[in-house]
Amino acid sequence: LYEEENATQLMHEQFSKETIHFLQQVGELADELDTNAYMIGGIVRDLFLRRPNEDIDIAVEGKADIFAEKAAERFKGTVQFHESFGTAQLVLPNGDKIDVTSSRTEYYLKPAALPTVERSNVQEDLARRDFTINAMAIQLNSGDFGRLIDAYNGKNDLTNKVLRTLHNLSFVEDPTRILRAVRFETRLGYKMDKDTENFARQRPTSIQSLSKDRVWSEFQHFLQEVAPGEMFARLEELDVLDAFMPGASFKPPVVTALFQRVRSNNLNVDEKMNTLIQLLALFTESRSSFEKSLLWMRSNPERTLVQQIISLYDTTWIKDVAYGALHDAFSHVQNMSLWFTSRWFEAADESEKAYVLYTYFEKKQSMPELINGDDLRKFGLSPGPQYKEIIHKVEKAWFDALLTTRDEALSFAQGQVEAYMKQLND
Ligand code: CTP
Repeated sequence: LYEEENATQLMHEQFSKETIHFLQQVGELADELDTNAYMIGGIVRDLFLRRPNEDIDIAVEGKADIFAEKAAERFKGTVQFHESFGTAQLVLPNGDKIDVTSSRTEYYLKPAALPTVERSNVQEDLARRDFTINAMAIQLNSGDFGRLIDAYNGKNDLTNKVLRTLHNLSFVEDPTRILRAVRFETRLGYKMDKDTENFARQRPTSIQSLSKDRVWSEFQHFLQEVAPGEMFARLEELDVLDAFMPGASFKPPVVTALFQRVRSNNLNVDEKMNTLIQLLALFTESRSSFEKSLLWMRSNPERTLVQQIISLYDTTWIKDVAYGALHDAFSHVQNMSLWFTSRWFEAADESEKAYVLYTYFEKKQSMPELINGDDLRKFGLSPGPQYKEIIHKVEKAWFDALLTTRDEALSFAQGQVEAYMKQLND
């Protein structure tokens, strides 16, 4: 079927002594348990590409959980089970995590009654995978250590830089593989072969059944790569981007400019927010496509952000506007919405609006602590809605440069409190 090849030498070149030793011991454990164990998938691909990869996936012919437990005993590690996936994760004392899956779940270790042929099912495991380059395994048992199983000529495709699905329905069964294909194309400089690309261009209807979370997490992988822009552009070119995210489009230069802005700005936001704002850039083609991004938001905070951006975008902008007046209008708006909308205006060549909004954003960022509730209490004001009102008035006066220091803010606030109390007494 395929040429027998042994990858032991390459493994010695590419892996640390510790990793080799670990893999050998996994193989010995498999011998003892009378089963077969393989290193499988992405790690094998990257081994041949000589790319560093720390994610070792092990497939055993037998029950993964039992194997992982025995391995944990041997390596003094622990095991975490993911029952729904039928996988187990071995956590080594140094913190390394190794996924262990069984290439056949119904199979039990040491089934004296079963003929050996039943056990040769790493092939079945490989047959379920996405691309030929990811459908290779390397055996770990002592007698066969390093033996390459490459039933789909994955090595050949690696040499030719080709991404090829194993069968016609691969993208229909799992449409996220289209996203993976584009990701590998860009990351590795590969191309899908003609058939594979045509399967992608057919926009399988199963895309619509994907959950938002699933799509989100695939795009999150995009954003961790070096050139996500290229990937989105490729999806656009394949005419599938808006199948995955209705309303999204990759239309340079606006998106490119925004992407660069987001990626080069140290916005001090967590990864989730960073992903969100980069994905939002794909909806900036028009006001109406931006509104469609709402369909795709998974939580209330995400929807609030989008709604704020839309309403900022719709604001009627007055020339020579005073920043205090802007603060009246936008004090409740999150910084991220201000930032994003100003950058959107800028990317869309609306430089005046971009400037005003960005300046407001910057001023707001640099506003010192002027007064707080404690100060107001000390002035004799009992807690109530006036607190918020007076604090807002102080901030507004700061934006209008009527005051700059905390001392000035305090005396301004005291004046406000006195005026309010006088009004109460009158
Ligand atoms: N796989 C698949 N179909 C998917 C996802 C994964 O067939 N939709 C298979 C592939 O064989 C892949 C393996 O599962 O090699 C492991 O997947 P994963 O860890 O997601 O990716 P890697 O291929 O290791 O890619 P990366 O380098 O981005 O981690």
